[in-house]
Amino acid sequence: MIGIQRFVRTSGFVLAALTSSVAFTSAPPVAFTGGGGEANCTACHNGAAVNSGPATFTLGGSASTAFTGSANLTAAFTSTPSTKHGFQMAVRDSANALVSGWGVNNTTVQKNGSFYVNHTSAGTLGVPSWSATLTPGTLPAGPLTAYAAGNQTNSNNAPSGDLVYTKSFKVYQAGLSAPATWSLGSVAVLSLTAPTRAGHTYFLAMSELPGSTPLGGVFTVPVNLGGALTPLAWDPALSSIFMNFVGTISGLGSATAAVFVPPIPSLAGLNLYFAYATLNPSTFAVTEVSNGISALLQ
Ligand code: HEC
Repeated sequence: MIGIQRFVRTSGFVLAALTSSVAFTSAPPVAFTGGGGEANCTACHNGAAVNSGPATFTLGGSASTAFTGSANLTAAFTSTPSTKHGFQMAVRDSANALVSGWGVNNTTVQKNGSFYVNHTSAGTLGVPSWSATLTPGTLPAGPLTAYAAGNQTNSNNAPSGDLVYTKSFKVYQAGLSAPATWSLGSVAVLSLTAPTRAGHTYFLAMSELPGSTPLGGVFTVPVNLGGALTPLAWDPALSSIFMNFVGTISGLGSATAAVFVPPIPSLAGLNLYFAYATLNPSTFAVTEVSNGISALLQ
């Protein structure tokens, strides 16, 4: 009797394992990216603690300085001792809601429901890198965050002995860039790129303090507006030093600001922090916040 029960249980287990063999190599279940409150693949693939393996797993994209309504994102094992890998990726908006609108190549990457992309069976062996493009149907407010989990497997067709990694990557709809070091006596140029906010008003802020400031709703601007130097950048009397710190994002989605760095030797070594917010030109409601950057005076 006991023997039969055990047989039934064992064969049931084998059947389940066979079914999942087909199901899991071709696609992990959804919601295991490790981001936005989700568990990660170590829920089943339990070779070691997450992010403790020897491989390098990366997540990035080209969109952080010029989001045009579409972001191409790549999750990759850039160095790995294994041959078989898998991944899953999702993007959340600033309110942590999942964003849909994925485009995939279907050969190595497939959609899994509306919000997730992951490897195909053909995208595991010898494929350490996967790309997909997100084009949200409705633009969310605020920066987006991509979350990815990667599985460096031991190719045993089972979840045992596999090593799992997680990464996140911010996609800013308002990009800000400038050289990292500014020479005393020079003019430093800051480039603003916000194609999805063309025609909006912007306020570029400066601070000598690191940190960020909540602007209400989902918006937190990554610059500390409590700096003693912060009001100087918006002082009309100093407009020959701080140029275009308030302005309009052009129809093409860009703007340029500049700082004349005074040739005062005691300024050498000062670190300045910058970020901007865009505002609806009629309501003055915040519509976007940029990434933050810093510049070292020397
Ligand atoms: C609910 C359990 C479960 C979760 C969660 C899960 N997997 Fe799996 N996965 C399995 C099982 C079971 C297998 C083995 C059977 C198979 O190969 O289909 C497997 C196999 C795989 C394989 C092939 C491994 C090999 O050794 O051949 C890859 C790659 C993979 N999973 C990637 C992932 C990734 C990436 C995640 C996280 C985003 C993930 N899995 C999450 C259960 C899971």
